[in-house]
Amino acid sequence: MRISVIGLGKLGSPMAACFAARGFTTIGVDLNQAYVDAINEGRPPVFEPQLAEMIAEGRSCLTATTDITHAVRESDAIFIIVPTPSQEDGGFSLQYVLPVMEQIGAVLRQSDRYHLVVLTSTVMPGSTGGPVRDTIEEASGKRAGVDFGLCYSPEFIALGSVIRDFLNPDFLLIGESDPRAGSMLADIYRRVVLNDPPVARLNFANAELAKISVNTFVTTKIAFANMLARICERLPEASVDAVTSALGLDSRIGAKYLRGAISYGGPCFPRDNLALASLARSLGAPAFVAEATDRANRDGIDRLAEMVVERLPQGGTAAVLGLSYKPNTDVIEESPGLHLVRALLDRGTDVVAFDPAAMPSARRALDGSSAVFTESAEDAIRSADVVVIATAWQDFAGIAPSTFERDGEPRIVIDCWRILTAEQLEGVATYVALGQSTAAAVPQRT
Ligand SMILES: NC(=O)c1ccc[n+]([C@@H]2O[C@H](COP(=O)([O-])OP(=O)(O)OC[C@H]3O[C@@H](n4cnc5c(N)ncnc54)[C@H](O)[C@@H]3O)[C@@H](O)[C@H]2O)c1
Repeated sequence: MRISVIGLGKLGSPMAACFAARGFTTIGVDLNQAYVDAINEGRPPVFEPQLAEMIAEGRSCLTATTDITHAVRESDAIFIIVPTPSQEDGGFSLQYVLPVMEQIGAVLRQSDRYHLVVLTSTVMPGSTGGPVRDTIEEASGKRAGVDFGLCYSPEFIALGSVIRDFLNPDFLLIGESDPRAGSMLADIYRRVVLNDPPVARLNFANAELAKISVNTFVTTKIAFANMLARICERLPEASVDAVTSALGLDSRIGAKYLRGAISYGGPCFPRDNLALASLARSLGAPAFVAEATDRANRDGIDRLAEMVVERLPQGGTAAVLGLSYKPNTDVIEESPGLHLVRALLDRGTDVVAFDPAAMPSARRALDGSSAVFTESAEDAIRSADVVVIATAWQDFAGIAPSTFERDGEPRIVIDCWRILTAEQLEGVATYVALGQSTAAAVPQRT
């Protein structure tokens, strides 16, 4: 079984490495020559924990090329993981997917073997059985489900743990043109994953809807936990961690992603939520739940910015620690830390910022703004009156408490993720843990 992976980005390169490490002859394809060179030289094209090790493990089975025709010709199964950017209306564009389908179709036209085509990119319901199938059938002159197999099979991975998540999925989601295609894909996964996950085999539309529904459900859960956090901050003796740890014991709810903190971000959650809302509206179905989740999420950043501004002295400086949307990644898309920096700058605040991994992309994103980037978390802290820990990087838990100390008015530390403790900072700084009843009580200075 030979596999090609088209698109060697944040999801595609870890997947290609995992296939190769499991012994599949794997050809990665990307238009980006630098990514192709990286794979061929045994280096990770993107920042992702364990990716270097996985590439090393699969080195003898893994090559990369910019030549999609060669890769498809040499493969039995072809995974497509190219971008599907969000559009104005919240839906996903097929602008990168359809040209790839056309190229694959042209190779299939010349081939007398059975090929399995697997679309992994996130697409709107109606895409795989609509424009995607139409394009590849037209280009190949063959029929999906008869002459070749077509599957829609998205991954539920989080950046920072892509390899662990890919190898240990809660479940596998397969939208299939026919049972042969679905069985072939399920068999590939069984040879790759480390656990024995249930497999949901559905038609295309149901699989597409299930994919964006999973992420939207999780965003709703996060928004709910954040609502509880804001309540706890105002309710005497309340602590969101105590409340969510009890809630999470209910098997109907579960503990994952139930951590009252700040807004969710990243390349999937916000846009999948908006896509589901957009789909509902386009069908004339109510979209209230997804829309409310998105509103609550945006509101969270404004509230946090207000909380900071209200606690800054005249002309004071705020430090934002954490600009990646979560720990262990350099991705800043829709990151709450970055949104917070922008919201503070909009309010005329002086901002210093630091992130252990995302400095280059954050600098680019905030180019032309007055935000100051520091060399270390310690430097950012020393130049600030209010410090916000916006991303739960473990690095921040290791900051020496004495770093927060200063003469005169104590520095205020707003810890969105409660990775420090009040005890650690006692007598050193004024510690504000979001989600704790003490948070709202911290005196305002203006
Ligand atoms: N990153 C995630 O956390 C994640 C999670 C789940 C689903 N997804 C979905 O996976 C898809 C890809 O996401 P990503 O984050 O890996 O994107 P990415 O931008 O990191 O990578 C996409 C890669 O595809 C390449 N590409 C574009 N057109 C191509 C073509 N014609 N031929 C070959 N290569 C081409 C690009 O050069 C790029 O390297 C999206 O639909 C996304 O929604 C991503």
